[in-house]
Amino acid sequence: MESHLKKLKDKALEEIKKITSFDELKKIETKYLGRKGELTEALKKLKDLAIEEKPKMGQLANEIKVEVEGFLSKVKFELQERTEEKASNVLDITLPGLKKPIGHLHPITLVQNELQDVFRQMGFMVIDGPEVESEYYNFEVLNIPKNHPARDMQDTFYLKDHDSWVMRTHTSNQQVRALEQYGSPLRAVFPGRVFRYEATDASHDTTFYQLEGLMVDENISISNLMAVLKAMLKAIFKRDLKVRLRPSYFPFVEPGLEIDASCAICDGNGCSVCKQTGWVEILGSGLVHPRVLEAVGLDSKKYSGFAFGLGLTRLAMMKYGINDIRLLLSGDKRFLDQF
Ligand code: DAH
Repeated sequence: MESHLKKLKDKALEEIKKITSFDELKKIETKYLGRKGELTEALKKLKDLAIEEKPKMGQLANEIKVEVEGFLSKVKFELQERTEEKASNVLDITLPGLKKPIGHLHPITLVQNELQDVFRQMGFMVIDGPEVESEYYNFEVLNIPKNHPARDMQDTFYLKDHDSWVMRTHTSNQQVRALEQYGSPLRAVFPGRVFRYEATDASHDTTFYQLEGLMVDENISISNLMAVLKAMLKAIFKRDLKVRLRPSYFPFVEPGLEIDASCAICDGNGCSVCKQTGWVEILGSGLVHPRVLEAVGLDSKKYSGFAFGLGLTRLAMMKYGINDIRLLLSGDKRFLDQF
């Protein structure tokens, strides 16, 4: 029995060494370890042995079985490695390429870039500014003193422990900063993020974007404002939109105006975006208040200017037909991937 088992082992190992494919591996496995395999049969015969021989032969037979199994799995592993290596060396040019996800610009950035291009072409500088702002630039120098009721129009985040500092409520904070730096004549736009302490809903958020415009020189009038705004709308919506003015009140302009454009979604026929009126309010504007000019030492008899503050977020929503402002800063990829 002992020599039979040893011979069987040598034979099996010899054959396993020659295996070159999975088919052969399967065959050899069955030949020795299958239900009727040679090694299985030999193990079955152990029960016929004399009682004193059983433990010794039993141990030997088991060792041989473990060794053969170990050898087989080693060969199997090597075969697998070889096939994988082969597969990775094969270049299949008919396979579809691996798509690398790449980033893209946010819809607000797209509209902002477009606006900046239009204004640059009209000779405007594009100027960035601080989001944390002093009350002076955000309110006081814009003719909105402390306790003035106009402060109620803009729910403000004040900085904790820094009472005279706010998160800017509008990009108008940039008007006087730019005039101080560049004086007159000046043509500039100021895009950026603004903050309001608002209850949020589909059309209000605590953070949104505006684009402020300012043009100061001798003899600037509302005609200049209209020409610039019409050119801007044409560039954004790729066609002529009608524009209408409504008198309004903003402390830093006189007269103050609200400007509506004919609704770009329904072409002025009436839809849910324009609430069936055919018009959409796009910005506040007016002629720069003499007090603002004088705050930077400009003679308001000689110089005049227009200013406007455009809702960049609102314009992006109108351009892309977005019906909930909260989507814009949600970071939701399902939304963002559409742009
Ligand atoms: N700053 C105003 C706001 O956020 C908008 C505005 C109105 C800006 C009139 C202007 C302007 O420059 O002339 O509500």
